[in-house]
Amino acid sequence: MLKDKKVLICVTGGIAVYKAVALVSKLAQAGADVKVMMTESAKEFVTPLSFQVMSRNDVFFDTFDEKDSSVIAHIDLADWADLIIVAPATANVLGKVANGIADNMVTTTLLATTAEVWFAPAMNVDMYQNKAVMRNIEMLSNDGYRFIEPSEGFLACGYVGKGRLEEPEKIVELVFEHFTPRNLPLKGKKVVITAGPTRERIDPVRYVSNFSSGKMGYSMAEAARDLGAETVLISGPVSLDKPSGVRVVDIESAEDMFQAVVKEYEDAAMVIKSAAVADYKPAEIHHQKMKKSDGDAVLQMARTTDILKTLGERKDQQILVGFAAETENVLAYGQDKLQRKNLDYIIVNDVTDPDGGFGNDTNVVTLLSKKGLVQPHESMPKRQLAKVLLEEIIEEEGLDGFNDR
Ligand code: CTP
Repeated sequence: MLKDKKVLICVTGGIAVYKAVALVSKLAQAGADVKVMMTESAKEFVTPLSFQVMSRNDVFFDTFDEKDSSVIAHIDLADWADLIIVAPATANVLGKVANGIADNMVTTTLLATTAEVWFAPAMNVDMYQNKAVMRNIEMLSNDGYRFIEPSEGFLACGYVGKGRLEEPEKIVELVFEHFTPRNLPLKGKKVVITAGPTRERIDPVRYVSNFSSGKMGYSMAEAARDLGAETVLISGPVSLDKPSGVRVVDIESAEDMFQAVVKEYEDAAMVIKSAAVADYKPAEIHHQKMKKSDGDAVLQMARTTDILKTLGERKDQQILVGFAAETENVLAYGQDKLQRKNLDYIIVNDVTDPDGGFGNDTNVVTLLSKKGLVQPHESMPKRQLAKVLLEEIIEEEGLDGFNDR
């Protein structure tokens, strides 16, 4: 599957070097032309011979050992590679590359290449979370380097946490995906997605909110990104990592979300409203902490703007997708919202289903369309479901029809 693909694996010095041997072996088995470059510290863990045997190529580690006098090895390799993966990537190599340092063959080659470079970090969990390392990772991400995040588990240092080199099988899968020409039906389209709860302040220390985790919206954003969309994720307060390659706008209240969505609406090709927006907010925000008294308290609530309904009224070329969380008459209430809010699609879920709803990693939904589609779905992980739903919408719209809208 990777025939004619040239992959340079740069191995830096950490205990996970042994996994890089498996990575090289799997890439070579998949047909890739693999070359390996090592730092001196990497050689302390595994000998170059292991990599030479697995890659069936010479292994490079000395900038000044020019095996072929007709070329300069590090420039030649930098130009040769279609893809470079630094695995394992130590904190040291991240720090050096982030700062443009080129003091060995690996860092010199990384500075000289125009190929795509991926880092697969592996280190002790505290080291990984060290501020300098985080800063370097952010800097490298902004410079266009991609990261294969370490996974969590037992670390060689005895700790349990984030810092294990991603499994070679998973890295090979990413390499496959990278080299497989993909169908990107949303390329050139702006897709705006809202996610999470909103928070409506009562006073400086209290608020009204709901149990939305944001997982469905974040999954929709990742799926839109993977289908080629320029993706904007307008997110309420959630405890999820920001997806890479997605522009995230953080908001707090329903009003903030309304403003943020309206700002992005005009040139959007699709708007997906997965957020659980508060329907009511405290009628007045107290600027000082409210003091308790002996009696009961009554909180006067005022309606928030129905964002989706307003978008439906202002609809132009946008494909409008809503969500409905229901506890009874799921399909009937869904159809009603679809009509009432002038939507193209609505994704309805029964939040009483043990596999569906807030906080779960799975969801059970039915996709309804303005044109009469009723497409139920079995329980599925939210990530998978997001992709299936978007693909269905794209198919319903017809790729060409979608482009012409
Ligand atoms: N929604 C919105 N603005 C609001 C409330 C909801 O945009 N103020 C959107 C949600 O993002 C979701 C859809 O409307 O996509 C349906 O949300 P839901 O709370 O199920 O529906 P409501 O319109 O609030 O209807 P009801 O309370 O009658 O169930």
